[in-house]
Amino acid sequence: MSVLGPKTKRITVRDLLEFKQRGERIVALTAYDYTFARIVDESGADMILVGDSVGQIIAGHESTIPVTIEDMIYHGRAVRRAVKRAFVVIDMPFLSFQVTPEETLRNAGRIMKETGAEAVKLEGGDEEAERHVRALVRAGIPVLGHLGLTPQSVHVLGGFRVQGRDAEGADRLREDAARLEAAGAFGVVLELVPAKLAAEVTQALTIPTIGIGAGPDVDGQILVLYDMIGLNEDFTPRFLRRFAEVGQQSRKGVTDYAAAVRDGTFPAPAQSFE
Ligand code: KIV
Repeated sequence: MSVLGPKTKRITVRDLLEFKQRGERIVALTAYDYTFARIVDESGADMILVGDSVGQIIAGHESTIPVTIEDMIYHGRAVRRAVKRAFVVIDMPFLSFQVTPEETLRNAGRIMKETGAEAVKLEGGDEEAERHVRALVRAGIPVLGHLGLTPQSVHVLGGFRVQGRDAEGADRLREDAARLEAAGAFGVVLELVPAKLAAEVTQALTIPTIGIGAGPDVDGQILVLYDMIGLNEDFTPRFLRRFAEVGQQSRKGVTDYAAAVRDGTFPAPAQSFE
């Protein structure tokens, strides 16, 4: 059942900031296609991220590195068509934003124009990333930052592991978060960060933090939809809770269908035309 009424208003960056000010938690999920985006939007998510996790979840790559701008635009358009209320953010894929601020601007502009999304997300928060975020914000493109485990840098980080555990890593994360806020980002995803550090960063920023594997004391939570509903069945990290078992249900559906086709009970008269 949809929670959207006839006067549904779209969530904006201002709403997201006000959520933080009021202490209301932001509900975010990923989506990659029209059908699931509609379910996520109508079920009341505030933010939908067309994540470059599409590369792993939908295309079966081992990392997000092979994902292209064209992939993001294709999936972004499908999601955007479905969504009436949630704030839609599209990930900028690997090397679509790291080269020069001009190229970043051109690529983000394409994503915004061709998908109709409200914002882009990009990974990282060092001085170089700051220049790119500033260029986008100056051009009127809202930017969501992403710190902690930044999957596009998985080979530098040496795997998908918790970040900011040592003093040096924690200091870097604090500095990067402050830099992103100063550059004009409207929020920051904190991925795989110790809960205490995420809470501290959340307290220090005026913009909202959205956690994934970052504990409860952040301004919102995001999960990859397919992980959260049990479709990505082999993925069982500590930070994940499954709120449905759609993978198991789907297997049962397909097995039952195959049996019914084989024994001739499908289609029955009710599914046939006279
Ligand atoms: O690509 C993605 O799905 C993400 C989320 C995990 C935050 O970046």
